[in-house]
Amino acid sequence: MQRGKFITFEGGEGVGKTTQIRLLSEYLKTKGIECISSREPGGSPWAEAVRHVLLSGLADKMGLGPSGEAILFAAARADHVDSKIEPALEQGKWVLCDRFMDSTRVYQGESDDVAPELVDSLERIAINGHKPDLTFILDLRADVGLHRANARRKASEAVDRFEREDITIHENRRNAFLQLATRNPDRCRVIDASQTIDEIAFDIWRTVENVLIKPAKAEQEKRDADQTSEQNEAEEA
Ligand code: TMP
Repeated sequence: MQRGKFITFEGGEGVGKTTQIRLLSEYLKTKGIECISSREPGGSPWAEAVRHVLLSGLADKMGLGPSGEAILFAAARADHVDSKIEPALEQGKWVLCDRFMDSTRVYQGESDDVAPELVDSLERIAINGHKPDLTFILDLRADVGLHRANARRKASEAVDRFEREDITIHENRRNAFLQLATRNPDRCRVIDASQTIDEIAFDIWRTVENVLIKPAKAEQEKRDADQTSEQNEAEEA
């Protein structure tokens, strides 16, 4: 069985990752590709509990500090990878994930209070070799994204610990995501998230077709052809 593909969606607040993951998942199903959607922090029962501690501001309020937060994000990620992502990929399913290791690089890694060596080590341990096959970075002006995030938040939902931060921090994160994409051109694709939902979805589908579906199909056809010629040779012998 061919291993599944791992696609992550990254970007600042309110860039529309959740909607695009749903649309890509529907598109993949029409192509006969089985996939699961997940998110970080979270994705497994234990990691969802850590999500609550981190995003409610509890960890911050109790004085955990940025390095401690980075460690918690990594612990949640390690469990998510082991219990959900790896088993799904192994079964040939594709995994679409709302945020992954690049969010730690940007949100924690850009803070002067977290040592780069710590971010590197945590990433290595948490992802355990599971780098995404493709990462979409949905790019949008920070003020526009925050406005969208505020508009869609239900009255019962609180503003999370990171959304509450200053606009200049959000702008710096946008730039950090763009720089990360420049440093990882094979894996990362920047998508203009100021377009309409349909335009963004089209950009994403086209990229997935070109980068993952067509090469995977070609690989499968080659494997089938090799197998047929091996069978023919065996029959002739
Ligand atoms: P979201 O699910 O609404 O995107 O919220 C998750 C928040 O957590 C978002 O503000 C980004 C932040 N975050 C980090 O700071 N580091 C991480 O590693 C991850 C996955 C998320």
